Amino acid sequence: MSAAKARVGILISGRGSNMQALVEAAQAADYPARIAVVASNRPDAPGLQTAAALGVRAVAVDHRPFGDDREAHEQALDAALREAGAEVIAMAGYMRVLTPWFVNAWAGRMINIHPSLLPAYPGLRTHERALEAGDAEAGCTVHEVTLGVDQGPVLGQARVPVLPGDDAGSLAARVLEAEHALYPQVLAEFCRALRQ
Ligand code: GRF
Repeated sequence: MSAAKARVGILISGRGSNMQALVEAAQAADYPARIAVVASNRPDAPGLQTAAALGVRAVAVDHRPFGDDREAHEQALDAALREAGAEVIAMAGYMRVLTPWFVNAWAGRMINIHPSLLPAYPGLRTHERALEAGDAEAGCTVHEVTLGVDQGPVLGQARVPVLPGDDAGSLAARVLEAEHALYPQVLAEFCRALRQ
């Protein structure tokens, strides 16, 4: 990759608060990446409006017309990302499991944020499971995306305490704040390393 800023595509399915944190961080002159496009599989994802309001190209690649053909959907997604010049992908609340075709196409250039201290609690309901287990700490992980869901090499983690009286909502809010600090930092490190 050239010495210029890495061009990043962000994948979302919903709210997009992590996407917003990345876009805002990338506004700094010395940030090593710029956000080339935000893409969602859901045309109604609120994050698409947020991205557009922030001046970032926002595209929907609806999965529904593709039915069960997940790879065909991801080929369309891939085309939209490449058309926007994306070289790196940051998944930020993208709620579909990617096919091996897509994962292989972006191998070594795709990262994800997950709301638990992996390898604990891959998958969904992370905060509920941390509370049920009586954990004293929770947190978030940024990892490389590989074929095993939520199993790629860990690039960074942030920890928060579980406080007395926490429910899944209060814990999720505390973890989300940590996500917004962690993700821009790890994306920057990842893009700098790709340039070496
Ligand atoms: C975050 O908790 C993220 O870790 C998980 O999905 C959630 C997305 O939230 N993968 P947002 O869309 O970034 O606000």
